[in-house]
Amino acid sequence: MRPISVAIDGPAGAGKSTVARQVAEHLHLTYVDTGAMYRAVTFEALRLDVDVTDEGAVARLAKHMDIALKPSKGEVDVFVNGRQVTRDIRTPEVTSHVSAVAGNPQVRKILVKKQREMGKNGGVVMDGRDIGTHVLPDAELKVFLTASIDERAQRRYEELVRKGYRVDWDQLKEEIRLRDEKDQNRKHSPLKPAEDAIHLDTTGRSVPEVVQAILELSRTKV
Ligand code: C5P
Repeated sequence: MRPISVAIDGPAGAGKSTVARQVAEHLHLTYVDTGAMYRAVTFEALRLDVDVTDEGAVARLAKHMDIALKPSKGEVDVFVNGRQVTRDIRTPEVTSHVSAVAGNPQVRKILVKKQREMGKNGGVVMDGRDIGTHVLPDAELKVFLTASIDERAQRRYEELVRKGYRVDWDQLKEEIRLRDEKDQNRKHSPLKPAEDAIHLDTTGRSVPEVVQAILELSRTKV
């Protein structure tokens, strides 16, 4: 029997990647972090001094980039053309430029093709913004994860402080709000729940609780 696919979408900081990774581990499926792919293209454009708003130039870059996601000790390592960029793609600089790259329809086409290739035999837990609506519309289980903006800002704040960044809470909250707004209002594959997605509000809920809730939902799909 073909293994199931799980699509997890939602706004920034809703806990998608942590939850998706753990769900994948429990179900013995492959976790695919599609945000990491948009981040990898953004990082490479910044590194090579390519203007992130130059759609053609960024698309050419994306087309010739080999992006690999490799599981490692419960995390996922990201490689661009064989070079490890796991940490580089999470810097505030990449985060502040990624919306421009994600709004580029040519880049989306290239990355969606790679993502569909990864999911073509089922057996993936894929997280992002357009997985249930566009990348894997036939996924057996679709979850739309949300949380209040304050809680999402707090989670990001703690994550960045843990990594050693100095951050201003209010500024961080505003950046998250802006990134969501851009993701929701862009022309191509905006962030929105699929009609058949199950909504889960993670405000005040722990990661194990949310993971359990999704595992229970997945049992109804096998
Ligand atoms: O998930 P993460 O916050 O790392 O994603 C970074 C950015 O990549 C998002 O803000 C969004 O603009 C873009 N993205 C997207 N479609 C996806 C995954 C991420 O547009 N499937």
